[in-house]
Amino acid sequence: MARVTLGPGTEVGIGRPGEGRMTIGTADMAGRLLAWYDRHGRALPWRTAPGVGQPDPYIVWLSEIMLQQTTVVTVGPYFQAFVTRWPTVHALADAALDEVLQAWAGLGYYARARNLHKCAQVLSREFGGVFPDTEAALRALPGIGRYTAAAVAAIAFARPATVVDGNVERVMARLFAVSDPLPGAKSRLYDLAATLTPLRPEGRPGDYAQAVMDLGATVCTPRRPRCLSCPWQNDCRAHQTGVAERLPRRTAKTARPTRRGVAYWLVRDDGAVLLRRRPETGLLGGMMEVPSSTWHEGDLDADIDGRQGAPAVAAWQRLPGMVRHTFTHFNLELVVLAAGTSAATGRDGVAAKGHWVTPDRFGSQALPSVMRKVAAHALVHL
Ligand code: ADE
Repeated sequence: MARVTLGPGTEVGIGRPGEGRMTIGTADMAGRLLAWYDRHGRALPWRTAPGVGQPDPYIVWLSEIMLQQTTVVTVGPYFQAFVTRWPTVHALADAALDEVLQAWAGLGYYARARNLHKCAQVLSREFGGVFPDTEAALRALPGIGRYTAAAVAAIAFARPATVVDGNVERVMARLFAVSDPLPGAKSRLYDLAATLTPLRPEGRPGDYAQAVMDLGATVCTPRRPRCLSCPWQNDCRAHQTGVAERLPRRTAKTARPTRRGVAYWLVRDDGAVLLRRRPETGLLGGMMEVPSSTWHEGDLDADIDGRQGAPAVAAWQRLPGMVRHTFTHFNLELVVLAAGTSAATGRDGVAAKGHWVTPDRFGSQALPSVMRKVAAHALVHL
């Protein structure tokens, strides 16, 4: 286990049997990193300039929820659209869930959007729109876990919270030459990161947290780290021993399985296409979809032949090719069958429970990326 004592100037002893021991002087490390951040930190739309005032907790919370599992580049336009449309937590709380899901469409991990809306409602109705300012109180809110609570506490409230995302894990694994593989090493890396967290507001814990993340994103990159530009190069055990690029290690992942299904593109005489809403819970919960069969591993022929899960009896025709999409835990392959239907059947028949939407209005639907791919595929092949 790491032998850790806190406080400026402390020597942090780390190491495991067989791993060797080392010490790192923590005295100026945060200061050196902050000086680097003041010059090289990224100007991101949700940030205030380094060292300037406390940012709006709503902005910090919204951006940190969006940034989970999603890149800064992807988040940018979504963040701008959200704050323009819903500039306060009260405004977001008053929005309809479907509006929020629609604005989130394409960002993925849709449970985040549902929890975002739920959390805004709790904050607006039970907290008068005021964010709690401690990690523990933040964690009690919907959708706020250890990472987000620490990020909001540090960045918005200058609390000495330890913020650890994938970038920070990599920085710590290298700095302390941790050879245990992820994900098992997570709690150890968190403990090591905590030894460096500034303890007082004057130590700028919010800027410090963002500086470590920026360091991981721009200097201590997974491949070809730019060690010569790193303010911590002289503190970094992995750099000193030439193993930076080999850390962190990871336990081999099991291969992603492939699930298959049939999507049914049903077009009414007037050009409207049948969509339906997915159940509130589970994958893509509450989002809209092109109706489809169950998705499962193995052969799909019987499902295609039997029109499994089809929303109506119709003259279904198989379109060429298929739609592929990657989810966290599986790959998906969808074969698309298309058919036309009369306006009367469409309104009153089996498929009447769905929503009939012309493709030019899909932009205003809560359609996740996989379903946008299905639509694009059908429109190209019909
Ligand atoms: N990744 C997630 N949140 C971030 C932040 N505030 N700064 C830099 N990278 C981040």
